[in-house]
Amino acid sequence: MATEIVEIKIGGKSFEYPVTVGTYDEKGIDISKLLAQTGYVTFDIGYKNTGATKSAITFLDGDKGILEYCGYPIDQLAEKSNFLEVCYLLLHGELPTKSQFDEFEANVQRYYELPTEVVAVLKSLPKDMHPMGILSVMLNTLCGCYPNDLEPSASEATHWENVYRVLGHMPAMVAYIYRKKAGLSFLKPRKKADYCENFIYMMTGKVNKTIAKAMHTLLILHADHEQNCSTSTVRIIGSSGSNLFASVAGGNNALWGPLHGGANQEVIEMLEEIKTLGRTPEEHIAMVKDKSSNVRLMGFGHRVYKNFDPRAKIIKRFADVVLKDLNISDPVLDIAKSLEKTALEDSYFVDRKLFPNVDFYSGIIYRALGIPVDMFTVMFSFGRMPGWVSQWRELRASKEPIGRPRQIYTGAKKRKYVTYRGR
Ligand code: CMC
Repeated sequence: MATEIVEIKIGGKSFEYPVTVGTYDEKGIDISKLLAQTGYVTFDIGYKNTGATKSAITFLDGDKGILEYCGYPIDQLAEKSNFLEVCYLLLHGELPTKSQFDEFEANVQRYYELPTEVVAVLKSLPKDMHPMGILSVMLNTLCGCYPNDLEPSASEATHWENVYRVLGHMPAMVAYIYRKKAGLSFLKPRKKADYCENFIYMMTGKVNKTIAKAMHTLLILHADHEQNCSTSTVRIIGSSGSNLFASVAGGNNALWGPLHGGANQEVIEMLEEIKTLGRTPEEHIAMVKDKSSNVRLMGFGHRVYKNFDPRAKIIKRFADVVLKDLNISDPVLDIAKSLEKTALEDSYFVDRKLFPNVDFYSGIIYRALGIPVDMFTVMFSFGRMPGWVSQWRELRASKEPIGRPRQIYTGAKKRKYVTYRGR
């Protein structure tokens, strides 16, 4: 099939640009020569229409509510896989065979224990620091633990070692942040244990297979989501040649914000406030619709999904299952359900195609699993780590140029220097 061509007319002159086509026939106008040929740049604040890369990792159709990792639908992975299998899939593009999985797991297990320097830094940080800030410091500290393995030109084997390091260290980092904030001592990892069983043990000092299984599912649901804010951050940092640890620390900072991963914490705080104040769902929705309130319905809306977020559907069902399994009744789950129902019947949300996203129900499950609210976004980071790492590796493998957007300058024109000193 001949390449589709898009014609752009500027000042009576015509320029032609090829269309690049994806696996599912998604189309992007390749304007890489636009500036050189016309002197114009594209203008797209927030990159709402900009395809910044080609990627073979995750496919997302926001209109149809489809999410696939390397061709596997998210619901099948959530039901059938474990988290490390999904990490392997994102990194290699294929699900592992038994022996590939065993080798991968053993490589990750080698790094369950944290370097002493990371533990020392953790101990030195203010107790009131937000867990997301602490996690970024710990991830950056890894640069100091493996200083000879950070060069972009390092061998492929060294780069893989860094992948195992960051995936292997994550459970201990998350568990130790939790235990530091709770004033508890740090536990040694169970070196040969399953990834999530070891994590739950390091958090709580107990092995609980039900909770570990739930954890696998939650982490899988968060594992990748193509070019979102934090992943784009990781890619842009990596594009300058920065090392893996520094790049994922940056991704973690981007995830922290309330419009991104920080929304899971905000959702529970919103639901708790509704409960405490005895507000009805209708009253809360009325407040959200009043733009002067500057209040958003947290856990609702998405840049790409203009239909149900498939992760939210799974998490909603899963919340019922986990709470039942653990014999917990949380009134906040009922508030969330009636808030969702009220919103989905309201033309404000219908017209703007605003649906619950992954963050709407996830916090309710985390809470049932005993994870404190200020750790929710760290849990998101924990799940997203293989996505960040795979996207960083993909960027390197395809030798992408440094990420460097252009701008339209709107400041003052060149002018004469003036100073209050009178010279
Ligand atoms: N509550 C109320 N109104 C909303 C919401 C919301 N949650 N989300 C979007 N809108 C309105 C917005 O006010 C705007 O209305 P109008 O056309 O009248 O100006 C319209 O919908 C379009 O919103 P937008 O901000 O231009 O959309 P966006 O694609 O830039 O933002 C979003 C996407 C996720 C930042 C936004 O929907 C939001 O702030 N949601 C709440 C925060 C949240 O749950 N974030 C988690 C996102 S999913 C997980 C993740 O990526 O981390």
